[in-house]
Amino acid sequence: MSEIEIESRNLDLWYGSAQALKNISMAMPEKKVTAIIGPSGCGKSTFIRCINRMNDLVKGCRITGELLFEGTSVYDSGVDAVELRKKIGMVFHEPNPFPMSN
Ligand SMILES: Nc1ncnc2c1ncn2[C@@H]1O[C@H](COP(=O)(O)OP(=O)(O)OP(=O)(O)O)[C@@H](O)[C@H]1O
Ligand SMILES: [Mg+2]
Repeated sequence: MSEIEIESRNLDLWYGSAQALKNISMAMPEKKVTAIIGPSGCGKSTFIRCINRMNDLVKGCRITGELLFEGTSVYDSGVDAVELRKKIGMVFHEPNPFPMSN
């Protein structure tokens, strides 16, 4: 049986007063492809941004619950978000040039 690589437990997220994620608990096994499907605006990108802490950059965003990567909470105070993002990348569905490169 494969190990769990990424796991969320009772994850809630608010943008200001608007709750975008409600009580999300799921596990993603290592060395498997996991797909998240759902209608536009249901929170897929929001959830994925939690995994590498990209929502840290969104003003007014608040997260409760747990998000574990290889058994460690990515929201632990000792976790360096820049190091985390070296391991957990994102490919955007729209081009996202770096500043000064376009
Ligand atoms: N930076 C933000 N600030 C405030 N609200 C946001 C922000 N990003 C997303 N939202 C809101 O959070 C909800 C979830 O959006 P999200 O982009 O995660 O959905 P999605 O499932 O990825 O949609 P799509 O299929 O269109 O990509 C939506 O109501 C959206 O308007
Ligand atoms: Mg999206």
